[in-house]
Amino acid sequence: MTSSPAAHWKIVWITGASSGIGRDVALQLARAGVRVAASARSAEALAKLAAEHPAVTAYPLDVTDAAAVMATVQAIEAQLGGIDLAILNAGVWHPMGAAEFSGAKAIDSMAVNYFGITNAVAALVPGMIARRAGHLAFVSSVAGYRGLPKAAGYAPSKAAVISLAEVLKPDLAAYGVTVTVINPGFVETPMTSVNRFPMPFIIKSEDAAQRMIAGLKTGRFEVAFPWQLVWLMKLLRLLPYPWFFWYARRLLSPGRKPQG
Ligand SMILES: NC(=O)c1ccc[n+]([C@@H]2O[C@H](COP(=O)([O-])OP(=O)(O)OC[C@H]3O[C@@H](n4cnc5c(N)ncnc54)[C@H](OP(=O)(O)O)[C@@H]3O)[C@@H](O)[C@H]2O)c1
Repeated sequence: MTSSPAAHWKIVWITGASSGIGRDVALQLARAGVRVAASARSAEALAKLAAEHPAVTAYPLDVTDAAAVMATVQAIEAQLGGIDLAILNAGVWHPMGAAEFSGAKAIDSMAVNYFGITNAVAALVPGMIARRAGHLAFVSSVAGYRGLPKAAGYAPSKAAVISLAEVLKPDLAAYGVTVTVINPGFVETPMTSVNRFPMPFIIKSEDAAQRMIAGLKTGRFEVAFPWQLVWLMKLLRLLPYPWFFWYARRLLSPGRKPQG
């Protein structure tokens, strides 16, 4: 679809807009004529973003704070108008395997990646149902398809996001509200800059933002890219457990001695 994003949405709220993919999505939407409400914890980074385009308004927020999320949604809707599209993109990546398992990191992964989204859903859904319109986009990951090495905090939180999207999609469709789950592969952002392992088919953040916006315009349930990694990960999802664990041990953890 080649139509402008402004033909689809007037007001878009995006969380995790202070860096990486969220920042690029915010700027691309603003340049296309959409009013963008941008949230993240870093007020300074958001002010810098808002200074780059007059269509961006900063709403600093910690998505783990349910009351603050509710107040932010109310403020955006009072000041800018009803939110047509909410891109719930804030996320954290704590690389973690069994040997270095941290309960605090597991809790933080769920708190931001999953409960950050449920806090927003609770704040957004009543208004969208009342308006019989709206689009919720949850940013998950191909890492949510199956449990992967070093993703002991991240993968479960992203799997939960995909599950939530599946639950809400048919239910909200009855009220005219669209649900999309976005599953990117590797993207060059501050999040992945810490990784010391190969990241096949990695793409630039601007490219990821473009693909997200193009996918959201179609209104389809899943927007996943790049296709090479998506297909590989979907194939892994179909493998019976013994084959999957064999693959996980021998290929996804090359440094680890196989135990059989
Ligand atoms: N990069 C990849 O390869 C990749 C692949 C698949 C999926 N994803 C997903 O894409 C999304 C964006 O990631 P990215 O790669 O662009 O990473 P990033 O550059 O690290 O951006 C993460 C964003 O989330 C915000 N954030 C973190 N904790 C928050 C909190 N408690 N409340 C509000 N905002 C918070 C950060 O801002 P503050 O620190 O200012 O709060 C930042 O704006 C994430 O959900 C990530 O899991 C990324």
